[in-house]
Amino acid sequence: MLKSFWFWLLVLFIAIQVFSLNVPATEPIKENEKLQAPKEVLSILQRSCFDCHSSEVQAPWYYEVAPMSWYTQHNVRKARKIMNFSKWNSYPKEKRIKFLEKLPKAIVIRMPLKAYLYLHEEVTLKEEEKKLLKSWSKDLKDKS
Ligand code: HEC
Repeated sequence: MLKSFWFWLLVLFIAIQVFSLNVPATEPIKENEKLQAPKEVLSILQRSCFDCHSSEVQAPWYYEVAPMSWYTQHNVRKARKIMNFSKWNSYPKEKRIKFLEKLPKAIVIRMPLKAYLYLHEEVTLKEEEKKLLKSWSKDLKDKS
């Protein structure tokens, strides 16, 4: 009985692999569309945000393994729709400003996503990094 439970679980696990959201981790990037920012800012964004908000997601091992892939790829799709830093310059000014306006609050309460932080502790923003991101987004917004 127990044996057949694990057997069917394994069958189920293999079967669901067919269903993929097909959100590629990496997409072609145009150099002139990429976000330009001071080195310190860019390195924080790359470490803590690019794994969802960019065309260069560093896919973890579970990126292609259902059911984890469903959740992960769904988040990447949603995050890219809101802001893909790799396409920054291709967006209308209004979209960039809207994002910059939301950023200060987002990094305090929910960005990066909690579930992701749980698995990737190293991407947690330090207080001084939050400050830097906030002043960067404010400056950029005021300049736009
Ligand atoms: C694990 C994936 C993931 C990471 C990493 C991540 N985000 Fe997001 N982000 C999302 C998703 C999904 C949404 C849209 C759904 C939501 O708001 O929960 C979002 C939405 C946002 C929004 C819009 C919030 C709003 O109120 O509409 C901002 C701003 C944002 N992210 C900034 C950031 C910044 C800055 C970082 C890095 C410090 C970051 N995100 C890291 C997945 C992520």
